[in-house]
Amino acid sequence: MNKMFRIVVALVLFASTLALLGGIGQAQESSEQPALAQPPVSASAAAPAPDTEAARIFRGYQIAPVPLHLRGLNRDLVGLGSYIVNAQAACNDCHTNPSYAPGGDPYKGQPKKINAEHYLAGGQAFGPFISRNLTPEGSKGYPAGLTFPQFKQVMRTGIDLEHEHPQLGPLLQVMPWPVYQNMSDRDLQAIYEYLRSIPHAEPGT
Ligand code: HEC
Repeated sequence: MNKMFRIVVALVLFASTLALLGGIGQAQESSEQPALAQPPVSASAAAPAPDTEAARIFRGYQIAPVPLHLRGLNRDLVGLGSYIVNAQAACNDCHTNPSYAPGGDPYKGQPKKINAEHYLAGGQAFGPFISRNLTPEGSKGYPAGLTFPQFKQVMRTGIDLEHEHPQLGPLLQVMPWPVYQNMSDRDLQAIYEYLRSIPHAEPGT
C-alpha cells in the first residue's frame, strides 16, 4: 500500500513537471514572436502545419517590424514576402540606416529592435555606394518607384535603372542581385507585394 502510494506521488510529480516545462516553452515562444502586424483573416486561425508555405506566410506576419497596409494587396504574397525579406534575404541589414533602433542592436548584445522609423528607406553607405529607398513612393505607391517588371529586371540583372554611377558601368554594386536573381518569380512577386504594404519612410542619418 505504502509502495503504491509512492508510485502515485512520483507519477503526479512527473506529470506536473512535464506540464510546467511545456508551459515555459510556450511562454518563451510567444514572447519571442510578438504579433506586430495584423495577420490576415486566413492566418489568424490555428497555426498552420510546419514546413509549408502557409507556415512561412503566418510567420511573415509575426515578424514584420512595421504596420502593413493590406488594402488591394494579395495577403498571402505579403506574408510570404515578409518572411523572405525579414527571415531570409537580410534587406534590412543594408537598406535601413541604421538597421536597428537605439538600444536594440543585437550585435551589441542588446535585445533586437529593428529601426521601424526608417525601415527599408535606404541611406546606408558602402564606400561610395548608398543603398536606395525601397519604400512605396508617389501616388501609385510603387516600391523604390519601380513597377513590378522593373523591379524584377533589377533583381534578375542588377542593371541600375537610375544610372547613378555610369562612370562605373550599368550594374548595381554591393547589392546581392547575383544571389537574388536565382529566386522564383513568385518569390520576387512576394517581396514586391510586401514592399508595397510597408509605410513610406525617409532614410535615417
Ligand atoms: C549587402 C547589402 C544589400 C542587401 C543585403 C540588399 N541590398 Fe539592395 N542595394 C544595396 C545597395 C548598396 C544598392 C545601391 C547600389 C549602387 O548604387 O550601385 C542597392 C540597390 C537596390 C535596388 C535598386 C533600387 C532602385 O531604385 O533602382 C533595389 C530594388 C534593391 N536594392 C532591393 C533589395 C531587396 C529587395 C533586398 C532584399 C531582398 C536587398 N536589396 C538587399 C545593398 C543591398
